[in-house]
Amino acid sequence: GKVGVLLGGRSAEREVSLKSGAAVLAALLRQGVDAHAFDPAERDLPELAREHFDRVIIALHGRYGEDGTIQGALELLGIPYTGSGVMASALALDKWRTKLLWQAAGVPTPEYALLDAETDFEAVVQQLGLPIFVKPAREGSSIGMSRVTAAADLKPAWEKAAKFDALVLAERFIAGGEYTCAILGDSVLPMIRLVPKKDFYDFEAKYLRDDTEYRVPCGLPAAEEQAIQALALKAFKVLGCSGWARLDVMLDAAGKPYFLEANTSPGMTDHSLVPMAARAAGMDFDTLVLKILELARV
Ligand code: DAL
Ligand code: MG
Repeated sequence: GKVGVLLGGRSAEREVSLKSGAAVLAALLRQGVDAHAFDPAERDLPELAREHFDRVIIALHGRYGEDGTIQGALELLGIPYTGSGVMASALALDKWRTKLLWQAAGVPTPEYALLDAETDFEAVVQQLGLPIFVKPAREGSSIGMSRVTAAADLKPAWEKAAKFDALVLAERFIAGGEYTCAILGDSVLPMIRLVPKKDFYDFEAKYLRDDTEYRVPCGLPAAEEQAIQALALKAFKVLGCSGWARLDVMLDAAGKPYFLEANTSPGMTDHSLVPMAARAAGMDFDTLVLKILELARV
């Protein structure tokens, strides 16, 4: 049947999504699938039904793409789509409510504080130490995020993040290394270790520069990697995710994992991590895309 690749959209991650979507579309076309790009910022979603699309791959990121809104519209239209459903998408895009659920379920996540106009910023520095990561609760690709290394910089970092979302988190820095766990169906792909060359794995490191070092295999002893993968699967299930996702995790100096967030529509650009993890498991990009499509919710 006819497959729509949803790409672009109206979020701050529009440009990233255009790249993810173009890569996904090219893979489907190479595999002989009757696939067409569809940008919900330019067209009305009900056209998908009128034009008899059988299913869609969601390559949208952020608001109105990864947050349950498109998922709800697709449910109403009766069009099967890839990835998580309405509730899990909405929860996973919200880093604060993700933390609340994970804490309740025993999935470790870094200590944090919410920032707003009433916040005693000095007290937050006392609580979390430095550096502190400040992020809008409902953004992706590190947009609006800062790494704060001096107490006086916390308030400006909050102001920057608040331009993207009224809900802003300050998070304790976990110092043992940054990793990611990609989940595909019932399995967790090999973990990747990220070693950014500057500051942190920010927007530029993600998409513009080429200086981040990616380690697959990630260098952890097999038993430790497996334990973190099992926890990643639990974190995925607690949020009610399905199909596929990518969970970002930091390890402390003792090797204890702290989960940062779940991305329910991870990047699929040529710089992206899920394709890299799939490759490490012997799965090429085209096969990965077909597998994600096969896991579409009906
Ligand atoms: N939010 C970006 C696209 C990612 O998680 O890959
Ligand atoms: Mg994210």
